[in-house]
Amino acid sequence: MKDILTAPFMVEMIRTTTNMYAHGWDERNGGNISLMLDEAEVMEYLDTDNVLRTIPTGFSAPALEGKYFLVTGTGKYFKNVAYDPAKNLGIVRLKDGGETAELLWGFTDGGKFTSEFPAHMMSHAARLAVDPANRVVMHCHPTNLLAMTYVHTLEEREFTRTLWQMCTECIVVFPDGVNVLPWMLCGTNKIGEATAEKMKTARLVVWAQHGLYGAGRDLDEAFGLIETAEKAAEIYMKIAHLPRVNTITDAQMHELEAHFGVKGREGYLD
Ligand code: 13P
Ligand code: ZN
Repeated sequence: MKDILTAPFMVEMIRTTTNMYAHGWDERNGGNISLMLDEAEVMEYLDTDNVLRTIPTGFSAPALEGKYFLVTGTGKYFKNVAYDPAKNLGIVRLKDGGETAELLWGFTDGGKFTSEFPAHMMSHAARLAVDPANRVVMHCHPTNLLAMTYVHTLEEREFTRTLWQMCTECIVVFPDGVNVLPWMLCGTNKIGEATAEKMKTARLVVWAQHGLYGAGRDLDEAFGLIETAEKAAEIYMKIAHLPRVNTITDAQMHELEAHFGVKGREGYLD
């Protein structure tokens, strides 16, 4: 059996949590990540018959039966993941239609997966239905996107258009736009279901006055999506109080669509 701390998925998870903390997106225990793993790659590092504990999830997700996830722990700080991965992360396999998680590795202090596990698992199921290659759901508290939800309308077309207008390449990176949930109580099945519903049509979902969810095929892609949207929000927060003299026009957005071979969300451009 190979050393799991050398597994590419583990190395990348540690790098990503460390980097997200460095970006200021994950204060204290803020943020959480779940990465779906292939059974074959897990078996190189773990005896998958050795279940350490079973943990009820409190929801069902039949589409994820038997799936493996590397996931951050509840109450755990992203800044500490690199120093003690086995305490701050865990590998679980879902069974009983998603109602039970079997712990195979990690959470060594008796901890468990993030309190946002419902939103993560329901979002995985929603994204997999759209894109079978999706592997990552990532949540964090990026400063400028959060700030924007206090001063900008939460209407999704307007919110998306504003972000697209802030950097030329936004429409190329997230042509599906950004979906937005109003403030809701976090850590619940209800916000999980609402997030998953929004994930059916976009890979970025804003939680107003709380943070952001991103989904992608790997950690880099989810990180890059969030990074790009947050950069756009940063520019918005720098200029929102100033008269806007120039912008990226819809005609220019259409030029970008043609040049980069992408199509902005239906009805979002004039
Ligand atoms: P956890 O520590 O349970 O992952 O919660 C952090 C968070 O960001 C809640 O939305
Ligand atoms: Zn949060």
